[in-house]
Amino acid sequence: MKNIVILISGRGSNMQALLNANMNCNIAAVISNKADAGGLTFAQAHGIPTAVVAHRDHPDRESFDAALAKVIDDFAPDLVILAGFMRILTVKFVTHYAGRLINIHPSLLPSYPGLHTHARALHDGVKIHGCTVHFVTADLDHGPVIIQAAIPVLADDTEHTLSARILHQEHRIFPQAIRWLCSDQIELNENGKVVNHSHNPAGNALISPSLE
Ligand code: GRF
Repeated sequence: MKNIVILISGRGSNMQALLNANMNCNIAAVISNKADAGGLTFAQAHGIPTAVVAHRDHPDRESFDAALAKVIDDFAPDLVILAGFMRILTVKFVTHYAGRLINIHPSLLPSYPGLHTHARALHDGVKIHGCTVHFVTADLDHGPVIIQAAIPVLADDTEHTLSARILHQEHRIFPQAIRWLCSDQIELNENGKVVNHSHNPAGNALISPSLE
């Protein structure tokens, strides 16, 4: 059974979705860069070991990432999962976990990398928006895509309503991606693209607004 370490920075709803999904893996620890991250309480209540590595206790990214990696590696993880972990990671850190570092991002990558994805999508007037689970590489928010969910942007959407509907989809696709990884259904090919050996068919076309 694979060992998983989950990193969070805040409320941890994606981490909760993973814990609730009864995946065939051992969630070895939940680690936060913030002592007051709400998700830590939920993890503790589920009997998962937690740790805090506060970025504010370190003078630069390099020393923070080194301290974080030391704590992570004590749990000997097969996968390190970024579930709302709001720190930019150094190339050294990303390279150390190459092929086993996974992130969830609230947009249809490669569109809208970075922050404020929902506000930017609304500003641009796109009709379809979504979320992505992907491998993390040194190229921020551009690693190989594992799974994406797309939803229509509604005429009266606000940042709040759009982010709530996308978060709901995040909670569906993230456990699926980790399940595939835990059962070795996913590999990276020689071009750095994700090959999925599961038998799930492709989803349906999403057209927004719909055809008449
Ligand atoms: C999610 O929208 C995730 O995609 C992004 O940060 C948010 C974290 O939310 N990276 P939560 O802490 O999992 O509730």
